Order: sequence, then structure tokens, then C-alpha cells
Amino acid sequence: MTIRLGETAPDFKVASTSGEISLHEWAGDSWVFFFSHPADFTPVCTTEMGRTAQLAEEFAKRNVKPLGLSTDTVEEHNKWIEDVNDTQGCDLQFPIVADADHKISELYEMIHPGESETAAVRSVFIIDPDKKVRLTLTYPMAVGRNFDEILRVIDALQMADDKNCALPADWRMGGDVIIPPSVSDEDAKEMFPNGWVEHRPYLRTTKV
Ligand code: BEZ
Repeated sequence: MTIRLGETAPDFKVASTSGEISLHEWAGDSWVFFFSHPADFTPVCTTEMGRTAQLAEEFAKRNVKPLGLSTDTVEEHNKWIEDVNDTQGCDLQFPIVADADHKISELYEMIHPGESETAAVRSVFIIDPDKKVRLTLTYPMAVGRNFDEILRVIDALQMADDKNCALPADWRMGGDVIIPPSVSDEDAKEMFPNGWVEHRPYLRTTKV
């Protein structure tokens, strides 16, 4: 089953390093950064788990709960977390799903046989508080993800929701935003009281 943007994230109940969790119930009113890893005790994954733990406050500020997944058991995850904390100088607190039987990685199509028949690739699902999938990313096994981009796109999604706007290439918090073409000039006057610059009738930028 392909998981498309705007669809409800498939729910599941599974063992994790924080006990059994049901995705939707565990997420509650938070956003979720759900990200998969090929295997425990591997170098790139160790740095990614550590980076996520180091960014705990940044995720919390944005009301985002990280949820890792690796195709190993809770016991292996718990031993690995000691290594992650030792080598990455962090205190990993978020849950890691145990997916030794591949049930969740198959449900979320995280196993790409061209990369590996048995291990998950580096998938990302950003899920909003309505449980809708808002962003997917897929990285190969050999390349670690860019966590600046993970935070940036969460900021962008939340800004788009909050201000009914769109965000230009390489947008960062504080940068100009785009008034969507679906918003008339008349409505834009109320929605964007700072006014706007009309570069083209379909390209209007403003500050929020
Ligand atoms: C890693 O996390 O370092 C890794 C895992 C599987 C394949 C290649 C690299």
C-alpha cells in the first residue's frame, strides 16, 4: 500500500523501547517524526539516532514527537541506545519501534528490495495532529538525513497551516512567504495586513 500525502497514517500497535505503543493514541495532539533505520549497531544510524536525541528540545518546541524504527528487537535497541548515548554525547529518550518481523516496515513500505531484502531504508513520515501524512522522504542506506531540513520542513508545514500561505524555495523561519494563487487580492488584504509585493499576478510575497 503506497502511503500518499494527505492520507491518514496507518495505525499500528507495536513493542518499542518505551513499551507497547499504538501510533495514533501515542501521538495524541502532537506531530510525529516517524523515521526508519536499516539496523541497530550500524554507523550512519547511530549518528542519526544521536542527532535526533540532541535535538529533543527543538522537536518539543514544535510539538513534535520523534519515533524511530529499526528492524531489530527491543533488547537489541536498548543495548544499542547505550552506544548511541556514549558515542554521540546524548540521552536518547524517544521510543524506537521494534520491527524484527518487518510488519511495520512492510506496512509503511520502508523495505526497498533494490537496496535490501531485509532491512528498512531511511524513510521519513511527518504526521500531523489529525494523523494525516504531510511529508515523506526516502534516503538510501549509505546517506544520513539532514536534520536541519527535517526541522525546516516542520516549520514550513506549521507556518503554511497557521497563516494559510505557501513557502518558497529554501524558506527559513523569518523569511518572506507566498500568498497562494487561490487567495484573491480582496481576501489577501484581510489575511495579510502587511501588504505584499506582486512580482507577477501569481507570485505575491509578504512578511508574516
Ligand atoms: C549504517 O547505518 O551505517 C548503514 C546501515 C546499512 C547499510 C549501510 C550503512
